[in-house]
Amino acid sequence: MDYQLDLNESDFLNNYWQKRPVILKRGFKNFIDPISPDELAGLAMESEVDSRLVSQQDGKWQVSHGPFESYDHLGEHNWSLLVQAVNHWHEPCAALMRPFRFLPDWRIDDLMISFSVPGGGVGPHLDQYDVFIIQGTGRRRWRVGDKTPLKQHCPHPDLLQVEPFDAIIDEEMEPGDILYIPPGFPHEGYSLENALNYSVGFRAPSGRELISGFADFVLARELGSRRYNDPDIAMRDCPAAILPQELDGIRQLMLEVIDQPEQFRHWFGEFISQSRHELDIAPPEPPYQPDEIYDALQQGDKLTRLGGLRVLKIGEAVFINGEQLESVHPAALSALADKQTLSLRDFGDALDDPAFLAQLAGLVNSGYWFFNEE
Ligand code: SIN
Ligand code: CO
Repeated sequence: MDYQLDLNESDFLNNYWQKRPVILKRGFKNFIDPISPDELAGLAMESEVDSRLVSQQDGKWQVSHGPFESYDHLGEHNWSLLVQAVNHWHEPCAALMRPFRFLPDWRIDDLMISFSVPGGGVGPHLDQYDVFIIQGTGRRRWRVGDKTPLKQHCPHPDLLQVEPFDAIIDEEMEPGDILYIPPGFPHEGYSLENALNYSVGFRAPSGRELISGFADFVLARELGSRRYNDPDIAMRDCPAAILPQELDGIRQLMLEVIDQPEQFRHWFGEFISQSRHELDIAPPEPPYQPDEIYDALQQGDKLTRLGGLRVLKIGEAVFINGEQLESVHPAALSALADKQTLSLRDFGDALDDPAFLAQLAGLVNSGYWFFNEE
């Protein structure tokens, strides 16, 4: 299914993105759910899939984590099943994220799907990331408050909520409606009927994550070997004092490690192309020989990218799932980064180069791209 987003994208970026929440009424016209509640419940029974059940009775909240063995104990009210990164496991769900590629791939994270019965929801809360919440089947009332300081509390150790807030958006969403919420705006969804919601989530690294990720890279590559030196060391009254210029020197030394553009690009590409959730990797058995890949493409077979695989570009460098790919065929690599499915002509004459073909076979044999059986 090809989902078409009915949105003036530049208007959205100028007026709403990271600024204020908005309902995109019928953002998807004639919306058809890419998954059924039963299929979603089935996914939450798989050990690789990250899921949770949140329920509430008279203000008492409960959370349990998947994989689930059965749902027989659940009633008809006040619970919600939430499944993370469904785009990694279910191709039709992955298709629902593609219309959001007017925002950069590196900022897009994954698709979380919830199924809620009447009264179901996770309660009022804040998220650290932008999200588009698409209403699927059923109606659900969504309230969003302004970004003001709110007290947070944990009604259950696995649930962080905020105190009640005044709504700036309060709407019953219908299938195909989309609610965009920037980080930090309190919100809550309260189901009126059995309802499916699809959350296209974004990612925005914090300084802490970046420093920690960069430190790993520095250690792995043994960078930053230069040591502090002080040929112009100053006399001081107090031997215990660290002087401001010395602190500056230390900071300068550290910044120098970051301030190497080539290394920095390489690190960030590796860092940001890693997926935060497990991938459904199933390497082909037996592996493909490069000439079999060539023949299949010549016959018109198409290569499809594994759902959730992150493929990003910095200049001509392409990063796939945490690794930089070196190639003398930037156009072909670029096609791998840009397109969901690829056919013969997307690769141009790169396929005539045995080195590129071997590289492509490596990617297929890693389970990153596969021939679809259409
Ligand atoms: C949901 O309940 O479907 C979404 C939860 C959220 O607000 O992030
Ligand atoms: Co939320």
